[in-house]
Amino acid sequence: MPTAEQLIIDGERVGASDAGTFDVYDPSSGDVLAEVAKATKADVDRAVQSARTALESKAWGGAPPAERGRIMIRIAQAIRDRAEELATLESHDNGKPLRQARTDVQVAARYFEFFAGIADKIMGHTIPLGPGFLDYTVREPIGVCAQIIPWNYPIQIGARGVAPALAAGCTVVLKPAEDAPMTALRLGEIALGCGLPPGVLNVLPGMGPEAGAALASHPGINQLTFTGSVEVGIAVAKMAAENIVPVVMELGGKSPNIVFADADLETTVQGVANAIFQNAGQTCSAGSRLLVERKAHDDLVSRLNDRAKSMRVGPGVSDPDMGPIISKKQLETVERYVKIGRDEGARVTAGGARPSEASLGRGFYFQPTLLDEVAPDMRVAQEEIFGPVLAIIAFDELDEAIEIANRSQYGLVAGVWTRDINKAMTVASRIKTGQVYVNTYGAGGGVELPFGGYKKSGYGREKGLDALASYTQIKNVCVRFA
Ligand code: NAI
Ligand code: MG
Repeated sequence: MPTAEQLIIDGERVGASDAGTFDVYDPSSGDVLAEVAKATKADVDRAVQSARTALESKAWGGAPPAERGRIMIRIAQAIRDRAEELATLESHDNGKPLRQARTDVQVAARYFEFFAGIADKIMGHTIPLGPGFLDYTVREPIGVCAQIIPWNYPIQIGARGVAPALAAGCTVVLKPAEDAPMTALRLGEIALGCGLPPGVLNVLPGMGPEAGAALASHPGINQLTFTGSVEVGIAVAKMAAENIVPVVMELGGKSPNIVFADADLETTVQGVANAIFQNAGQTCSAGSRLLVERKAHDDLVSRLNDRAKSMRVGPGVSDPDMGPIISKKQLETVERYVKIGRDEGARVTAGGARPSEASLGRGFYFQPTLLDEVAPDMRVAQEEIFGPVLAIIAFDELDEAIEIANRSQYGLVAGVWTRDINKAMTVASRIKTGQVYVNTYGAGGGVELPFGGYKKSGYGREKGLDALASYTQIKNVCVRFA
């Protein structure tokens, strides 16, 4: 066993204060991928202190905004220079197919590039008060940002939070998920190599209830960005509330793809299948409900069946169509939900079990699965499964489709597939989700597009220029002159 991957605190690679470590597994084989230092509360204290010092330093807080942008451009380039290494590591750590990991790495680079360009364009405005007054606003960095990220898209979600925070002049303490912390550490290492001053980005892998809770409840942070489960989201929001720390919450969903009979079914099948099977369904914005107009149901489901059954499942680095589930625990959750679906009366038309190939026996694999004849109130239509399981619901009328789509505690994304502009626009205007896609689902990472939830999918927006609102605070200056 090589020496443990170290934490990044104040620009240094260090072990945990108590020298503790944990094992990280490759879900494709179940083998140990790495031993990683496990951050303690004392490490979190040090990292937050270091982020505070960096915030107030000449090298970062006092640097011209254009200099922040230049460092971020270098980070984007360095990510691209190391793309293949990063993608391979992500594929081992998370299990995702290599080409999806390659996309994730390019998207991570795009976040730095996109937000680098705004670093010196974060402007305020002037407010007319009449003669004898000048009133203006300044958008100042909010301060030390805590970011707690999940295991499903570590480098993408890491970059998605870190890049706008740095552009705004903030500093960050990033806690990756215990299930897949590797590429977040590489990101921190790359940033240091590109001249990001010590303490501006600290990376602390560790357990949620220890390092995560210590960070979320820390009185020294000014802002918290969390991506993960609703349950933990509620817990960390309460911790942050004790210190009046604002939170951005990205908590997943049960996003519908609504397909009308007039849609181009060939492109629709691709979009619908990709929306649920990408990353083995472990995507906050997964299109996990298919609402299909009854007239097109049999045709669409038959095409989806063909597709699901022809998909190659295997180790991420062999670049299959679908890789494993992140962990044994998550695999068992997916299995449990398929059983719940069957018991509720849904019909499994594809998949529904672990693959039978002996060569996949040690990894955490599950087949691409279609659950047909799902009713809108079944648990498999209401609860986030976070696996490659599509719940299929038939509808007859547009109003009915919208009502079913909105009958959810979640509201992250929706897709609508039709050639009829009136149907598309009616759905777009009446759906209760933070993003709507028409005749597509996703937009190559969607770096430029504001992303976030309605209802229990969360609040606040990441991605796009709207993300900056979370990392800046507005100061109003009112000047009276004679
Ligand atoms: P989780 O919500 O437990 O983990 C997300 C992050 O929160 C990780 O970094 C974890 O270490 C941290 N965390 C856990 N407990 C914490 C605590 N008490 N205080 C502070 N931080 C804490 O998610 P988990 O257990 O990995 O997955 C469970 C379910 O959550 C999934 O089945 C899925 O439904 C949902 N999920 C949604 C994600 C999304 O992208 N919105 C991502 C990951 C999970
Ligand atoms: Mg958990």
